Amino acid sequence: MATSSDVFVLLSVFILRPISIIGCSHSITTHGEGESNTSKVLEMISKSELSSAHESTNAGSNSSKFVFAQTPTGLSGRWSRRLSRVIMTALRRLYHVRHSLLMAKTSGLLPIEVYRELTDLVKRSPQGLDLIEVGGASGAATIAMSWGLQPSSTSASHVIVVEKCEGGSRTPYGGWEANKARFDRFMRRYKLQDRVILFPHNLTLDRGPEVRALLRTERIAGLLSDADGMVHRDLYLFGDLIDSNGFVVIDDYHPSLSPKHAVTYAVVNRLIEADAFRLTKCIHETLFGRPGSRVTESLYNECEQVAQSVCQGYGIVIDERGITPLAR
Ligand SMILES: C[S@@+](CC[C@H](N)C(=O)[O-])C[C@H]1O[C@@H](n2cnc3c(N)ncnc32)[C@H](O)[C@@H]1O
Repeated sequence: MATSSDVFVLLSVFILRPISIIGCSHSITTHGEGESNTSKVLEMISKSELSSAHESTNAGSNSSKFVFAQTPTGLSGRWSRRLSRVIMTALRRLYHVRHSLLMAKTSGLLPIEVYRELTDLVKRSPQGLDLIEVGGASGAATIAMSWGLQPSSTSASHVIVVEKCEGGSRTPYGGWEANKARFDRFMRRYKLQDRVILFPHNLTLDRGPEVRALLRTERIAGLLSDADGMVHRDLYLFGDLIDSNGFVVIDDYHPSLSPKHAVTYAVVNRLIEADAFRLTKCIHETLFGRPGSRVTESLYNECEQVAQSVCQGYGIVIDERGITPLAR
């Protein structure tokens, strides 16, 4: 039975927000699974698909560029374009209804298509294995991934979520306790309290073993890295656990949307070059792929240098406080 809050969320998702959203970008790019020449893949992404998606995103409307390129200009043209976009957004949300509601209720930070793909990806991945997510926020991606797990069975798998629960995007919801309570509340609301294990601390190299100790299975079906751009840390700590048919998902891949994006972009390019991440698909700024060769200590150190030099360029540091300006 839908509650009055569900009705309100439905109204807001399908009527109010489509009207307010004028630019909705949607770009899905698939790359051949067996692509071996990583520099070619990189070139493909940075020169064509991603850059066109980014250009369009930066221009404020991806779909408008492609779908409405031929529509007339002038006042009536502008209004018909706007109306078409409102209708397209509402239709997209209707198509992704379950994920739209999830996103609205948990203030999810990723695009709807990414949440939907996360559910489908987990369904297609080896079942009976745990998952690790770094950067859980309020749990939107956690819930989307959990929807892809097999219903409870004797070998029920778990999602281990690392979330520091304070600072940055968590600040509007209060401090550590309030954010942890918020996350736990959503897990209870979606009846996932038995399948999700929260590690409510800042992830550092030292804390990797504590997270690994929470796993109930020897291998994991996948890793979602969506925290602070330190993707090399996440792959260094957990990459060896990922099943060969498992997945790696990395968010915030963009050369310049924010310092965190720029760090992610530079680090991930190095990881792809070193074959530590095999890209298969890209939706907006989220990359989907497979684990590659192991991130060794020397590759970790190299990526760390890459990350530090990007941070320096932006005059920031990324540490347990999150992303903060460099002290002068
Ligand atoms: C972009 S949000 C994640 C969005 C989330 N996946 C969703 O679906 O809405 C990034 C999260 O990573 C967390 N975070 C950043 N650095 C972290 C770290 N080193 N350890 C643990 N959590 C971290 C932040 O607190 C923030 O909640």
